[in-house]
Amino acid sequence: MTSGVRGAAPRIQLAERLNGIAPSMTLAITAKARQLRAQGVDVCGFGSGEPDFDTPEHIKKAAIAALERGETKYASVAGIDALRAAIAKKLESENGLSYKPSQIQVSGGAKQALYNVIMALINPGDEVIIPAPYWLSYPEMVRLASGIPVIVETSEANRFKITPAQLERAITPRTRLLILASPSNPTGVMYTPEELAALARVVVERDLLVISDEIYEKLTYGEIPHRSIGSLDEEIFARTITVNGFSKAYAMTGWRLGYAAGPQEIIDAANVVQSHSLSNVTTFAQYGAIAALEGDQSAVEMMRQAFARRRDVIYDGVTSIPGITCVRPDGAFYVFPSIEATGLDSMTFSQRFLEEEHVAVVPGLSFGSDKHIRFSYATDMTTIEKGIERLRRFVARL
Ligand SMILES: Cc1ncc(COP(=O)(O)O)c(C=O)c1O
Repeated sequence: MTSGVRGAAPRIQLAERLNGIAPSMTLAITAKARQLRAQGVDVCGFGSGEPDFDTPEHIKKAAIAALERGETKYASVAGIDALRAAIAKKLESENGLSYKPSQIQVSGGAKQALYNVIMALINPGDEVIIPAPYWLSYPEMVRLASGIPVIVETSEANRFKITPAQLERAITPRTRLLILASPSNPTGVMYTPEELAALARVVVERDLLVISDEIYEKLTYGEIPHRSIGSLDEEIFARTITVNGFSKAYAMTGWRLGYAAGPQEIIDAANVVQSHSLSNVTTFAQYGAIAALEGDQSAVEMMRQAFARRRDVIYDGVTSIPGITCVRPDGAFYVFPSIEATGLDSMTFSQRFLEEEHVAVVPGLSFGSDKHIRFSYATDMTTIEKGIERLRRFVARL
């Protein structure tokens, strides 16, 4: 029988590990944008971090064929052998990284791969260095693992990149890990091979580990070649966990497929985490991922070129507005202009921009900078052009 008082509210106590974990600040903006759209308002959406293209046909067909031939059962925790072999081949031929298939974990998106690795590595009180602006989930994952995110502010003057001196200064005896993303979300900037080498030297000398988030690797538009930090030499390779996935390059966000590759003992530990949470990524979906890696890459190039054209239009448009400055992105599909001159904080700016001009952007505060806003240009050119004109009008009025 029940022991509580009938009709009384249950005494729900949430886990302390969630204290201070920020729910997504962007949700309020997204909800408001949805509400305006439902009322028939013409909202320009720049919030979503996903390609507006559909998954290429041959990838879908491979998953459908797998489904039809009965690939509908549990699979091995770390991913099916054929996919891990295909990933190992890709990392070797494209990135110069020699991982055995056993050193690869396939997970539910790069997000879950990161989460598993952080859970496998971080003890309470361990410090993880995260350059700001950062992808908003890094600090929260570290907190969920009872670690301490150590945020290092970067400057626009240095194109939002952490310097070796800044890294040195942030290191304490509790530092375990550095998280780097190149190209970056939200800034789109990339580290040059020389900059990576200088950071790698510090990581090796101070015996840290580095997570290299390379999810935007294939979306690059400029002169900087993408380089995997782990490919620089054996010492940094032994300290690197390379994370990548299928969401951005192959327009497969809803498939939830990503991976981590690294030292065997780290991947083995991440597999323990996954074995008690996910078990394995949807079995038939993994066959789609094999087709993505081994099939025709022309769709990737078509999408890259479309993003490159949009990057030019949005960057030129935004920077033509008096009072708005912006670091030119090298890759990904974001611009991160400074709104400092408007005197508004990023939340107020984003809310008013949505209410008054019907443009949805993400406040920079979510990414660790209250002086910026993020536009995703994974949307059509008409929306981009309309959004720029609305920004021009809005800023002129402030
Ligand atoms: C920098 C970065 N890393 C990882 C992810 C996660 O991607 P997914 O879990 O879809 O593979 C994202 C998605 O927005 C991202 O921007």
